[in-house]
Amino acid sequence: MTEPRASVIVLANQKGGCGKSTTAVNLAGGFAREGLSTCLVDLDSQCNATGTFSVDPDELRDQGKFTVADAFLANKPGTQIELAFGDRFEGKLTLLPGHRALDQVQAQLDADLKRRVIADGISPMEEDDLRSENRLRLKKSLAPLVAARDFIVIDTPPRLGFELTAALLAADWYIIPVFPSKYDVDGLSRLTATVQKVRQRGNAKLRLLAVILGNYKANTVLHQDVRAKLKGTFPDAMCETVINDSVRHGEATFRRQTIYEAAPGQQAANQFAQLTREILDRLQVEKGGVKPLAIEKPESAEPVAVTEAANG
Ligand SMILES: Nc1ncnc2c1ncn2[C@@H]1O[C@H](COP(=O)(O)OP(=O)(O)O)[C@@H](O)[C@H]1O
Ligand SMILES: [Mg+2]
Repeated sequence: MTEPRASVIVLANQKGGCGKSTTAVNLAGGFAREGLSTCLVDLDSQCNATGTFSVDPDELRDQGKFTVADAFLANKPGTQIELAFGDRFEGKLTLLPGHRALDQVQAQLDADLKRRVIADGISPMEEDDLRSENRLRLKKSLAPLVAARDFIVIDTPPRLGFELTAALLAADWYIIPVFPSKYDVDGLSRLTATVQKVRQRGNAKLRLLAVILGNYKANTVLHQDVRAKLKGTFPDAMCETVINDSVRHGEATFRRQTIYEAAPGQQAANQFAQLTREILDRLQVEKGGVKPLAIEKPESAEPVAVTEAANG
């Protein structure tokens, strides 16, 4: 494929409070600061990433505008959902806002399917196909944005559920953010197993891009141990750049700003800028908007070979 296209990156960890939203927002902002057009997608019904842009999802709905829930419920293309913020990041950063209705999306799609099974008498095989199609609605919605942007960054809710699956099916890469205090080996292997299923059943090209340690206290032995352990488990994916524990991150969220806007020139912002460059280096993207290249490197953290691709 020679067409320029966005790299689609999912922040994935089923634990709450491990830095998914903070990383999604500031990585998306970091890409935009590097001159790369970036769309941030908020798949969490809590809408923390959406809040960073002072967007009220209910107000949007009242105004007849769409949220990412409509990608699933009404097959809306991302281009009809996308919001731009001309004054921030020189127009390079856009948002597909979340909505609390995301919580009900799977139940609603399942109920619709059941109704069709009864009303239209569709076969179990067709039912399976329609269920797969429901999971692929996000990918379909993002397709016109994939063709138009450099990066799509997807924030996900804290569970191994429908939204995360839909995001992983739509993605090229996933990133695992970890806080030392929330580090959990079993949790990470369940996440990896979920990713493995997605790779086998629908998206063979999905790969781990980075493991990012946040909320890090450099002089705490436990934190140093977790860092070393993660490096051992994910030797290629573990980022050199860590994000230190800093009150600036909470302040930025409170002020509905990215870290670059809330604490310019301070360590918290500088670390995210450095992390952005480390990730861009992995993707071999030059500053100024050269399109990402695929890295042809085997996935070392996931030993199972994947040979089957249904919807790749
Ligand atoms: N490096 C950091 N230092 C201190 N607090 C942080 C840091 N990163 C994030 N936080 C705070 O930790 C909380 C959880 O982070 P968040 O990104 O919302 O996690 P998740 O999306 O995984 O639930 C938030 O209140 C956030 O402001
Ligand atoms: Mg979050």
